[in-house]
Amino acid sequence: MGRLICLSNRIPTGANPSGGLVVALGDVLSETGGVWIGTSGEIAEQPGTELREIEGGPFKRLCFDLTEEEHALYYDGYSNSVLWPLFHGRTDLMQIQQDYLDSYKHVNRRLAKMLAPILQPDDRIWVHDFHFLPLAYELRVMGVQNPFGFFLHTPFPGPTTMRALPNGREICEWLSNFDLIGLQSERDVRACLASMVEIGGGSDFGSGFVHLSPRQCRIAAFPISIDAGEFKTLAEREIEKLPAGIVKANRSLMIGVDRLDYSKGVPQRFRAFGEFLDRHEDWHRHVSLIQISPPTREGVPAYDDIREETEHLSGRINGQFADIQWAPIRFINRPVPRAVLAGLYRASQVGLVTPLMDGMNLVAKEYIAAQNPENPGVLILSKFAGAAEQMEEALIVNPHDTEQMATSMLTALLMSLSERRERYHALMKGLTTHDVHWWSKAFLTALG
Ligand code: G6P
Repeated sequence: MGRLICLSNRIPTGANPSGGLVVALGDVLSETGGVWIGTSGEIAEQPGTELREIEGGPFKRLCFDLTEEEHALYYDGYSNSVLWPLFHGRTDLMQIQQDYLDSYKHVNRRLAKMLAPILQPDDRIWVHDFHFLPLAYELRVMGVQNPFGFFLHTPFPGPTTMRALPNGREICEWLSNFDLIGLQSERDVRACLASMVEIGGGSDFGSGFVHLSPRQCRIAAFPISIDAGEFKTLAEREIEKLPAGIVKANRSLMIGVDRLDYSKGVPQRFRAFGEFLDRHEDWHRHVSLIQISPPTREGVPAYDDIREETEHLSGRINGQFADIQWAPIRFINRPVPRAVLAGLYRASQVGLVTPLMDGMNLVAKEYIAAQNPENPGVLILSKFAGAAEQMEEALIVNPHDTEQMATSMLTALLMSLSERRERYHALMKGLTTHDVHWWSKAFLTALG
């Protein structure tokens, strides 16, 4: 078997040794002598011309630095101020600028030039996420024939949204240079097929095959997951280590964990919790919401706005309802270690995963895996998370509907033990059959 070559903008580093992707791909990479390639996280004065090895780790890692300008234009600019809002249906937040697109293409071309010389004929290349959409195209232009897989971790926009992008057709052409395009959900597959036809001018051959001259590619859903068994064990161990006082006999916990991103629906969640408290005075002092939202992409203005909005809302709700013994919301703007999160999920009666749009959302899966089967908590899940296609036994909500969300909070808090167990077992069954190992195997088998 040839080597597996993985590419993602962010490379697994010492700070993130146990991320889902590493768990899923580490074995294949080690067994095939494969390589993981991505940006170093460091800023260089000049753009480099060669990949650099990162020492240590269970498999080979190669990286390259961005220059300050590339970081501003390729990463903050085209990746996070054009593609991210577009792919999450927030065309109103897109910042269309020619220099963003130029730099995005330039970085991908530079990466292709550094990658081509190290490729062997039987290598399979697996590109992850929206930072590297043109990579297969760039390498094909250079004559590279290897099998190329692409997996998008975000949603894919349908033609109506895609039309907002001046170079939508070009994106479809780039994508057609991959042999296999993996998406998170059937919703995304339908959207991608429609965009490839309506925006890209391709022909739909059925069964996910699209012909976009001169190439043919296959589009399919491979919903990403977690190692549920590993996360369960972690949660069992970590709940014992939670500081005293977090779990109170007469107080239920609700938990939300999201990067502080406008796609995650945190303001809508706060408003719904405010509505719940307004309606149910008997729950005051008996429930609190821990919202953990580490800041992200701070160079991008839309992220400053969401921070301000969430700070304002949590302050207002706490100001309105808190008393000297209780504050309804604990809003934490710092990263919390994965192990502590696992313990907190298990200690929480309700998990709130209510994005406005999300590729999959692994917090939903982690929350379920962390539960105590004897006394499990309830997951409230947005219908706009890719996870909702697989996790129908959660309480499915529309995050725009404040009243429905507030009602679901009460339903979750009052749900009988037998119903909670029934829902938990159904959800856990799905998580164990379709775990992250299933995901990587399914994708690589399809790539062939
Ligand atoms: C999403 C994207 C990833 C990205 C992550 C964190 O999950 O799909 O590609 O790495 O967000 O964002 P950041 O910009 O900090 O890498």
